[in-house]
Amino acid sequence: MLKEMKMEDREKYYIETFGCQMNEFDSERISYLLENEGYEKTSDIEKAKIIVINTCSVRERADNRLYGHIGNLKALKVKKPEIIICIGGCTAQSLKEKIIDDFPYVDIVFGTGVVNNLPELIKKRKLLKQSLCDASLNDSHHNIYNFKRTYKFKAFIPVTIGCNNFCSYCIVPFVRGRERSISSNDIIKTINDLVLDGVIEVMLLGQNVNSYGYGLKDSLSFAELLEEISKIHGLERIRFMTSHPKDFSENIVRVIKNNKNIVKHIHLPLQAGSNKILELMNRKYSREDFINLVSMIKKEIPGCTITTDIIVGFPGEDYKDFNDTLEIVKKLKFNRAFTFIYSKRKGTNAFEMPDSVPIEEKKKWFKELVDTQNNISYEENRKLVGRKFKVLVEGLSTKKGTILEGRLENNTIVNFDGETDLIGKLIWVDITDAKSFYLLGNISK
Ligand code: 5AD
Ligand code: SF4
Repeated sequence: MLKEMKMEDREKYYIETFGCQMNEFDSERISYLLENEGYEKTSDIEKAKIIVINTCSVRERADNRLYGHIGNLKALKVKKPEIIICIGGCTAQSLKEKIIDDFPYVDIVFGTGVVNNLPELIKKRKLLKQSLCDASLNDSHHNIYNFKRTYKFKAFIPVTIGCNNFCSYCIVPFVRGRERSISSNDIIKTINDLVLDGVIEVMLLGQNVNSYGYGLKDSLSFAELLEEISKIHGLERIRFMTSHPKDFSENIVRVIKNNKNIVKHIHLPLQAGSNKILELMNRKYSREDFINLVSMIKKEIPGCTITTDIIVGFPGEDYKDFNDTLEIVKKLKFNRAFTFIYSKRKGTNAFEMPDSVPIEEKKKWFKELVDTQNNISYEENRKLVGRKFKVLVEGLSTKKGTILEGRLENNTIVNFDGETDLIGKLIWVDITDAKSFYLLGNISK
């Protein structure tokens, strides 16, 4: 039936994604489900019958952006009352009915655990003339690997969903639920099929991939899972994130070191460098533990890049604590740090913690951290100039339209001139110049 429908006759859907890779993956699942129902994707919101906004609520700014965004959809709904506006993702999960109360023209709110229900909700909405909200957290990994691939040559593969760590600032355990691991058989079969279909890089996803297997009977550990995946013939690169420092075992280090197709890049969030703040954050490691772990990784895996996340201005943090963070940043020389000013999230433990440092002060610390890290990133990138690296060509650079963008094994981006038929291929690139966040290069002759 679907095949007989002409392309131009198909109703269109428009999807917009905010936030992390897990949300990007959920959007690939949503696209799969909607296309299975006969909808066709459009990048023109004006042409869409179904509008899906897949939201993020990890920081307050994301919530505020969303409110502005949903507000803007009102005019469209007034003009075309038949469109169906669907709000999914983490904000939909955390605010549930409130979104419909505040924005009555929203048709469907669906939480992170009920992605599979979206087609049914849309059908129901077409029959019933009332807004619907579905936000139970039960069943989010049923058929999880039914997704529409954004890229031919690489794919995200969630291996765990949810989180059990309850870092005191973080809303993720509340909006994604308890940690569940996908069975290793499903993971390996899915990656095998993807590789047969042209994928050469996978990114294994989880809030804390290192605790993979927890709660599954007779499961592989993360180190064992990595090792099994690395045996898949034709899979050139295996990436994974995020690693929690408290669970990063020597076994994982050994497996990374011994397998060529596991990338030498670890995203290892520090969050804070002061023991007092790490304790308040409920991170379960000390600054010393973190420094020892990074030193061990760098010793065992020469050339391994480490990137990190850091929060500035956590409740109770003073300049001395902040300076502890700064010291670690200077000492460990991360290749890149994703830095955030602390943002209060309702429902988390830190929400109630007294927070006396004014935002202007936090912004000053933040700037000091960013300036310091940018210099370090630049210096680290400069060390690569004059060398030659294998690069996966990922697409056109966002900066300049006709320049290609690729990624070194160590996760650093490089821009260079080349033909678009190289996209999806692994090629050699000579690095000619460095910036803080990317490199410039030429395709090797
Ligand atoms: N405020 C600021 N940053 C946060 N992050 C998570 N929650 C918050 C918050 N409430 C940051 C952490 C995490 C990254 C994905 O987002 O650094 O690692
Ligand atoms: Fe949030 Fe901590 Fe879980 Fe990461 S490990 S998702 S920061 S609670």
